[in-house]
Amino acid sequence: MIAGMLTAAAGGEALDDLDKILIGIHVAVMGLYTVGGLWIKIPVHRAQKGIPPAQAALVGQRVGLDFTIVSWFAFIVVGATGYALLGRAGDFDLASPYTFFIDHSIMDSRYGWALFFMILFWAVLLINGLIMTLYFRPHLSGKLEPANTTADLEPFQARLASAVFWIDFLAWANLVLAGGSFAAGMIIGLDHTVMRVAS
Ligand code: HEM
Repeated sequence: MIAGMLTAAAGGEALDDLDKILIGIHVAVMGLYTVGGLWIKIPVHRAQKGIPPAQAALVGQRVGLDFTIVSWFAFIVVGATGYALLGRAGDFDLASPYTFFIDHSIMDSRYGWALFFMILFWAVLLINGLIMTLYFRPHLSGKLEPANTTADLEPFQARLASAVFWIDFLAWANLVLAGGSFAAGMIIGLDHTVMRVAS
């Protein structure tokens, strides 16, 4: 074997160049998502506090829309590259729909559990993303019509405030979940390092 070659944690087979490219893309898109998310949560929110509320709302809307697009791009790309990596490692068992077509025996390893949590956190991330995008975000762009009366104002404001609260909460939750998947990925990466072939 070539000195210093990485081996896949599950089966000990070498990672080829395409595996490494897929892993690079897999990790980079979630890096983009995580750094982008933290950037909005901390410096952008801080800057919004220093400008008039109407402008802060506009900034929030524009940045929110852009980040929604970045997020869905990252979620889809990380899922697709992850699924491709599973397939390339030979971890599919197409005869077993009960394990989502993934070989059950990989659950006997640390690699398998790390993967399980990586995929589980991703699935929850998607569900939260769907709730934010399809349910709460439309509330943010809702407007009062001329036909509305002052009696409509309070429920409108309450719905808006609750949408802002839940989007903030779910967005933080997703950053924590992404961190959890990174931690799972680090376990896999560590296994690669530990299994580095000396000669
Ligand atoms: C929040 C989403 C995710 C994050 C942050 C994430 C992160 C990572 C990281 C950091 C690695 C380690 C790369 C290395 O150093 O070797 C990794 C590997 C891997 N991920 Fe993910 N991942 C995510 C979602 C997924 C999903 C949804 C799947 C499957 C559908 C998946 C499948 C894999 C596989 C198969 C590997 C290991 C490849 C190998 O054997 O070397 N990941 N991931």
